Amino acid sequence: MIRLKYMILTWGCQMNEHDAEVLAGMIEKMGYHETHLEEDADLIILNTCCVREKAENKVYGKLGELQQLKSKNPELVIGVCGCMTQQPEVADRMRRKAPHVDLIFGTHNAHRLPELIAEAKEAKSPVVEVWEKEGAIVEHLPTRRVAGIRAYVTITYGCNNFCTYCIVPYVRGRERSRLPEDIIREVQSLGEQGYKEIMLLGQNVNSYGKDLDLQVDFADLLSQVNEVPGIRWIRYMTSHPRDFSEKVIKTIARSAKVCEHFHLPVQAGSNTVLRRMHRGYTREYYLELLTKVRESVPHASITTDIIVGFPGESSEDFADTLDLMEKARFDAAFTFLYSPRSGTPAAQMPGQISMEEKKARFQKLLEIQNRLSLEANRRLVGKTVEVLIEGRSKSDPGRLSARTRTNKVVIIEGHEDLIGKIVSVAIKEAQTWNLTGIVTKRAEL
Ligand code: SAH
Ligand code: SF4
Ligand code: F3S
Repeated sequence: MIRLKYMILTWGCQMNEHDAEVLAGMIEKMGYHETHLEEDADLIILNTCCVREKAENKVYGKLGELQQLKSKNPELVIGVCGCMTQQPEVADRMRRKAPHVDLIFGTHNAHRLPELIAEAKEAKSPVVEVWEKEGAIVEHLPTRRVAGIRAYVTITYGCNNFCTYCIVPYVRGRERSRLPEDIIREVQSLGEQGYKEIMLLGQNVNSYGKDLDLQVDFADLLSQVNEVPGIRWIRYMTSHPRDFSEKVIKTIARSAKVCEHFHLPVQAGSNTVLRRMHRGYTREYYLELLTKVRESVPHASITTDIIVGFPGESSEDFADTLDLMEKARFDAAFTFLYSPRSGTPAAQMPGQISMEEKKARFQKLLEIQNRLSLEANRRLVGKTVEVLIEGRSKSDPGRLSARTRTNKVVIIEGHEDLIGKIVSVAIKEAQTWNLTGIVTKRAEL
């Protein structure tokens, strides 16, 4: 019997990575086996992102490469899905630019993948099915999780915030919360399967429950997840600073499993820019929020996302961002050049900033953040911390890579059998991006 093989390539955020796990689950149920070699695959799915232009260019680049493979093997089925194909007109453009694509579908009908693959195999021309609107949440889809230590669990789909630069609400639909019992059941099963850490996913986890006819919010959900046996650490992505309530802070402070890492994307430090981004908070509110977090959770690490070169960002506005960074003392920041996204209000705003200027500002941001990250990491030298050992270090396969509860990577010496364990590590050295340490007790904490 021929064993059909598949491969999924994914770009974008954790949400998309988790979607790929569900796609893989459905494809494996159809009898396909995974391969990591494009040449061996009978089915290749590109699970795309469109948050910035760069992400889309990568997909077209990959499709260009796959053209040769398809001409050598006409039986190969190539599918493209995810946020990029959910945008209007992209399917048409893709059919013109990449006629070798057999199947195009969006984020709202991904659960139909098995039927769509069957159709694409029979059809003479590309199968295109992109639903304009989201349907009800589909539960109980088979999921092929990346084996290991951390598991993703979706709590909300979509986003209602419409930040003016962002395409996500258009391609992921309105906010929909899963029922708490469905989430808890999934977490329980993950605990039984031996996962040590779970990451709760949503574009804005703090608005969890608002669309349900139940009295339940994100803090209540965290308290419930905190009780699930087996699971040791709990993380969540992403939090909107506007909705980060005192109740959530207090719940995190008293829930032993919830990690002391706060990812609070600020995006900009100028009130004018924040208003035009439609973020719903001021720099003063944001800095006050950080003070509250640090008071309630003393060793918290705080990370952020920042966009440079939003339309109309003046040099004074940019100086406000730099000033906020100094005041916030972020442990790390993900920094992005503003990328106009078609269909979003900001793409039409006057005062678009030149690429040259964006890059110059970006450089400045990096310099400051690198110094702040190093300072934050240096404060840990000499301390003993709990880490979860995740695997071999990618840059130095002779050593192991571990992660602190505060989401910092620690490189350690040690035997492979430590992988998957939570142990104590003494921090010896600090670099900008990671720490090095030695295991003080091999026994699992
Ligand atoms: N829902 C999450 C993440 C959204 S996308 C949140 O609100 O934080 C991740 C990051 O990409 C955003 O935080 C933002 O910093 C960045 N981003 C989104 N749209 C962008 C754009 N058009 N150009 C540049 N960066 C963008
Ligand atoms: Fe985009 Fe804003 Fe929603 Fe985040 S909260 S996904 S940045 S619209
Ligand atoms: Fe990209 Fe979609 Fe995530 S646009 S960042 S993959 S929600």
